[in-house]
Amino acid sequence: MERYKEHRDFLKADFSILDKIETDRQKGLPAIPFQKDYNKNADIIKLPEVTRSVIKKSDIYDCLEDRRSVRLYSEESMSLEELSYLLWATQGIQKVMGNQVSTLRRVPSGGASHPFETYLIINRVSTLKKGIYRYLPLEHCLIFINELEQFESKIDAATPKQPFVQNFVSKSAVIFAWSCIPYRAEYKFDLTAHKKILIDVGHVCQNLYLACESIDLGTCAIGIYDQKLMDTMLGLDGEDEFVIYLAAIGKKGDNDGRK
Ligand SMILES: Cc1cc2nc3c(=O)[nH]c(=O)nc-3n(C[C@H](O)[C@H](O)[C@H](O)COP(=O)(O)O)c2cc1C
Repeated sequence: MERYKEHRDFLKADFSILDKIETDRQKGLPAIPFQKDYNKNADIIKLPEVTRSVIKKSDIYDCLEDRRSVRLYSEESMSLEELSYLLWATQGIQKVMGNQVSTLRRVPSGGASHPFETYLIINRVSTLKKGIYRYLPLEHCLIFINELEQFESKIDAATPKQPFVQNFVSKSAVIFAWSCIPYRAEYKFDLTAHKKILIDVGHVCQNLYLACESIDLGTCAIGIYDQKLMDTMLGLDGEDEFVIYLAAIGKKGDNDGRK
């Protein structure tokens, strides 16, 4: 149907665009850093070193077979070791490439541009106060951004119209909110960047699902959220950086809502 055309075209590969234009990289313009800058005097939390000791299920076959979206969580807190492992698995940096722009991580990203930042909305993680944090993958640390008053009502408002379980997101132990900084990919891929960004973020969330399964935590991807409320909550401008995908995580409840 005609009204779908523009959106369907976006899903297709059209690299002939790049024959007609010069990308900012080809123009020799400076790239932007792979990690957003931060105030070095802010409250920085060093994350525990990641080791295999957190793993409860090490067989990839079992993790793939048992993975489900989990929307009901127990009241139990997550440990900092568990959080550290999930960040390591989803965005942790293995290598900074010689150009100081690209990184290799535990997820793939077209052109190694990794156009995401990870924000954490923390509810129940032992030793951390409730509030909003950002992951610093280069240092494997968290930076505290601010507290979040009226936690439950604000998260409920920002994740409305859930198709299966209403208001489950605010009951999770931690919410991962991935923002996208499109220019990190546009610099090299110009108008072909945007389809790639969506594919990239799917890889990030899939690693989260499998990592959660391997330590017996439950997670659920969240694509339905209020863009403006979420961006405002995290202090993002909504243009050069905005939330692209979320996931709620917690200890699985007795009835964990799995099908
Ligand atoms: C892109 C994407 C967006 C999703 N958004 C939501 C959401 O907003 N709320 C929700 O409850 N589940 C959401 N889910 C989870 C799906 O509903 C779930 O994957 C699907 O029902 C299949 O169940 P399974 O993950 O247990 O196999 C999303 C999953 C994906 C991949």
